[in-house]
Amino acid sequence: MIIIKAADYQDMSRKAANIIFSQVIQKPDSVLGLATGSTMLGLYEDLVSHYREGDLDFSQIRSVNLDEYIGLSADNDQSYHYYMKHNLFKHVNIAAENTYLPRGGVANPDDECLRYDNLINQLGGIDIQLLGLGLDGHIGFNEPDDKFTAETHRVKLDESTIKANARFFENENQVPKEALTLGIGAIMKARKVLLCVNGKNKAKILKKVLYGPITPKVPGSILQLHPYLTVVADEDALSEI
Ligand code: GLP
Repeated sequence: MIIIKAADYQDMSRKAANIIFSQVIQKPDSVLGLATGSTMLGLYEDLVSHYREGDLDFSQIRSVNLDEYIGLSADNDQSYHYYMKHNLFKHVNIAAENTYLPRGGVANPDDECLRYDNLINQLGGIDIQLLGLGLDGHIGFNEPDDKFTAETHRVKLDESTIKANARFFENENQVPKEALTLGIGAIMKARKVLLCVNGKNKAKILKKVLYGPITPKVPGSILQLHPYLTVVADEDALSEI
């Protein structure tokens, strides 16, 4: 595990964007595992700037996102489809048909889970998986549980996750109660993992994730077993370590 200490959010974003930047330069047809949440906004802004400056080319890139709310269609402005389109995809030369997310609006979410795992296999797996961290230690939407789930699956969101994500909605009642998420299997099979964490409110959980017991009660703790984990975190997030 490599831990890169950043001064603040902006510095974390820049350092993490540089890692994605070098991945795209070194392997222009990479499969990027992408994530949403406020942690990633600065990183995507930096990637867009690199693209505008002519230093990045996404024309051969394929992307697979971690998760999506069940019940929200791609055009819903609270969906992760919408987030990705507006914060990254529409600003760079990635082909729409090369961007994949689990579809939360489908009639049969269980079939969608199977389709998504098959799709990732067909793409040859994920070259680099970008991850944020939930306050309860979740990665993607793999919530604390009695076991790790390998496959893409349907998940009931924890109360704490619903509360944390309510800031993006008009009120807490509007936050979907379920989501589809990539499982721990595909995340752990990614050739590289890049975990980005910022803020004092994540300091305690980050310490548990990186140095606590490996347990499905703290889903991110499984990353301790990943052979190529890079953590980019700001001083606030690292303040307990
Ligand atoms: C969300 C997403 C995760 C994200 C995490 C942290 O619920 N499903 O993929 O990494 O929670 O979000 P944020 O970056 O907004 O703190």
